[in-house]
Amino acid sequence: MILVYPGSFDPITNGHLDIITRAVYICDKLIVAVGSNEAKKPAFSVEERIDLIKCTLGERDDIMVTSFSGLLADFVKKVGAKAVIKGLRAMSDFEYEFQMALLNKNLEPDMETLFMMTSVNYSYLSSSAVKEIAKNGGNIEGLVPECIREKVMKKLACR
Ligand code: PNS
Repeated sequence: MILVYPGSFDPITNGHLDIITRAVYICDKLIVAVGSNEAKKPAFSVEERIDLIKCTLGERDDIMVTSFSGLLADFVKKVGAKAVIKGLRAMSDFEYEFQMALLNKNLEPDMETLFMMTSVNYSYLSSSAVKEIAKNGGNIEGLVPECIREKVMKKLACR
């Protein structure tokens, strides 16, 4: 089974990595798909976000890292997947994700959205929080994968 894990990943956090690590066990191939929604004014370009994810995961046969634009439902169909997986941190995520799941179901009735609860250690973590801390020169150790910490700080600290 192919699973798509979509997100902004601006940048990837240890919370995302937790979901990727666990999701890969329940599928044959996990496609990590970076949404290129420029309206969100991302801090990192799509290419930079993909590089950070690839740097974190290394070369793996069971994971593909790519980007998509347009509708997620169209992308999922194009790659031949039946389902997407999303991480849920708290009740605050639920309403938005519930709406997205229903809209996607309406667009593509064969597509399923699966939810995985984040590990408790990362329930407070978000890319926005990482950016806020890094921009203000704070310590992001333990919040993002260690191999990308310097790159994230370099990009954001002097903004
Ligand atoms: O990091 P996020 O905010 O959870 O990820 C957002 C993303 C890119 C997964 C989401 O915005 C998305 O699926 N965008 C594609 C547009 C789309 O299909 N929207 C759903 C119907 S309105």
